[in-house]
Amino acid sequence: MSDWTIGIIGGSGLYAIDALEDAQWISVKSPWGEPSDKILCGTIGHVRVRFLPRHGRGHRIAPGSINARANIDALKRSGCTDILAISAVGSLSEELAPGRFVTVDQFIDNTRGRPSSFFDSGFVAHVSMADPVCARLSKHAVRAVGKAGGEVTDGATYLAMEGPQFSTRAESKLYRHWGAEVIGMTGMPEAKLAREAELPYALLAMVTDWDAWRDDEAAVEVDQVIAQMQDNAKLARKVVEAFCKGLPKKRAPSPIDQALSDAVITAPEQHD
Ligand code: ADE
Repeated sequence: MSDWTIGIIGGSGLYAIDALEDAQWISVKSPWGEPSDKILCGTIGHVRVRFLPRHGRGHRIAPGSINARANIDALKRSGCTDILAISAVGSLSEELAPGRFVTVDQFIDNTRGRPSSFFDSGFVAHVSMADPVCARLSKHAVRAVGKAGGEVTDGATYLAMEGPQFSTRAESKLYRHWGAEVIGMTGMPEAKLAREAELPYALLAMVTDWDAWRDDEAAVEVDQVIAQMQDNAKLARKVVEAFCKGLPKKRAPSPIDQALSDAVITAPEQHD
């Protein structure tokens, strides 16, 4: 076994991973509340894997009600060194047609009122989110999509919206003006919390629809998202397998492993 333990956060349509060996669902308790589900623990090749379905098995939890703090904390407690998150997204770009995979390299967080920090009282830290994802993991994710036979774009800006309703046409056009290229409801605060937990994080998005900015097209509906996710779910499982098998045996340290070292502002004598 290598020293990678990869947390996979599965999005809509990805509720289990069949390539996992010795797979077992395990409850992980967190002081931050209930994670979305048990964690499916097992191995793929030389990599330990911890899989958590973001919406729970059967898709029971709406985006705004996901306890992202408990999810990230439970993954950290289950030994994860890194996280690969997978999400369905709408496209805000002519170049990103449904069916395509995209690695996210920037975020615009337009969510409202979701608990988005582990450090909101007693102990204050300001981690850098300038480069919000782990470039090393993203590179491996791009390679894995290629190996699995999918089409992939490397790098896109993700607009995180509150939902659960989809955007109006005016909002969809506004987000394009802001420079967003894909839109989803779950990438934030997940990515921020992963950084605070010193877990390198990459987000591999699967484009399911054109959102609502194309005047001559019907706007996104959930049946379209589900149909595209079902089309892609088999490919997504292959991508996860190729991703794990493509990681080198040795995990070199990442600067994100120490993200808190320059981020704490509370005076040392005030720490518990
Ligand atoms: N997830 C998948 N498609 C989406 C869209 N168009 N808007 C927000 N979240 C999505």
